[in-house]
Amino acid sequence: MKTVRAVGLFDSGVGGLTVVNEIYRALPLESTICFGDSAHVPYGSRSAEELIYLADKIVSFLINQGVKYIIFACNTNSSLSLPILQKRYPIPMIGLVQPGAKWALQVSRNRRVGVIATEATVQSASYERAIKAMDANALVFSQAAPKLVPLIEAGKIDTTETRMAINEYLTSLKKNGIDTLILGCSHYPFLSKIISEELGPEVVLVDPAQATVLEAKADLAARGLLNYFNGQKPQHQFYVSGDPKSFQAGARIFLGESLTRVVKVELL
Ligand code: DGL
Repeated sequence: MKTVRAVGLFDSGVGGLTVVNEIYRALPLESTICFGDSAHVPYGSRSAEELIYLADKIVSFLINQGVKYIIFACNTNSSLSLPILQKRYPIPMIGLVQPGAKWALQVSRNRRVGVIATEATVQSASYERAIKAMDANALVFSQAAPKLVPLIEAGKIDTTETRMAINEYLTSLKKNGIDTLILGCSHYPFLSKIISEELGPEVVLVDPAQATVLEAKADLAARGLLNYFNGQKPQHQFYVSGDPKSFQAGARIFLGESLTRVVKVELL
């Protein structure tokens, strides 16, 4: 029987689970290996050098586990380390920025697109570049939201603290008349409901994970790498560099799953 190879993905922490959720929905026959680099969260305040160094270790780890494809389930790394690591390794890789930018332009009515993301993603201007390359007349308004990842990692979703931070970050975007907001950090879709309440129903939220997984599906099919039903249930493995228990707690909240096995590995 042909060995079933998994799709690998990684993020700094529970953000990767937004992408796992999309894989469950759009690629239900695929096995996954998800790495949460929780010893180094948050990524958003790290330098490009540090991010590339860490991403390189994780990509090698995933390749050693035999994955056939890697999804950078992190916008910060999709912005800063994907272009470098794509040249370093022959394995096919995809990030969240390009598909997210494309999707945002498809849904925007007035081409005034907001982006909330980590400091590193905003500084890289990756979304702005991707959007402008597809539509030079589109206007992109970006806002770094550094308080949100620590709040989400702590499981603080519908709290006064989180609502206040969201209000602070969205004020200038609202003034700029955006009709579309890209959730440019894979942690933020867990706050969709609160963000949408703050912005009102006329602003469309874009979760880049959805478009990315659909593109990954087409890419896997084009490369002959898609899994077809063979009677075997897909396997989902989880690795972390930090505390497995806090990742398990996050998975209970965000994936609605009790992960019985989360393996801690040192990134050497
Ligand atoms: N979830 C990641 C992203 O999409 C990283 C967030 C962080 O650790 O700061 O950017």
